[in-house]
Amino acid sequence: MDQDREIQNIALTGFMGCGKTAVGRVLSKLSGFDFLDTDQFIEDHVGMSIPRIFEERGEDTFRHYERELLAMLADRKNTVIATGGGLLVDQSNMDAMKKYSMIFCLWASSKSIWRRVKDQSHRPLLQTENPKQRIIDLMNERKPAYSKADMLVNTEYRSAKEVAQLIYGQFNQVVNQKV
Ligand code: S3P
Repeated sequence: MDQDREIQNIALTGFMGCGKTAVGRVLSKLSGFDFLDTDQFIEDHVGMSIPRIFEERGEDTFRHYERELLAMLADRKNTVIATGGGLLVDQSNMDAMKKYSMIFCLWASSKSIWRRVKDQSHRPLLQTENPKQRIIDLMNERKPAYSKADMLVNTEYRSAKEVAQLIYGQFNQVVNQKV
């Protein structure tokens, strides 16, 4: 781990529907850390749902809110941060988050993702004619960005609790060894 990093938090990234919020909640209980969901935080601060922000203000404005939120998080400690799936795709956001958080990327196959999101309607990026193909395309596009996380965690065949335990074990090891 780089010497100039002050790891105080656990951040979760990964594609929509891979379980960041569910794992984050379990992880928060396990660690005693606070829990912060970036989408929820933005919705509360802006006073609008994510779909409404996209519809009325556009994706660029939503990304601007994400960057602003990231700046606000700089002095956070002992927090599990579940990020929206696009937040850390931006390299400067990833760099900023890495300064004070260890970043875990949750992974699931496009098939599993599709199974989990197909009956939901709160993700504007998947409101297209062919959401299944959109998932495959976006996952491929984002692969290089997600691979910059500290650790990739396969969530297939694992419960949220198992994923949380695995992450917490790794986090403790790194933070205690300061490697
Ligand atoms: C997005 C993921 C969503 C939400 C927004 C954009 C993305 O969060 O931030 O719809 O770009 O992948 P989840 O990953 O929690 O679904």
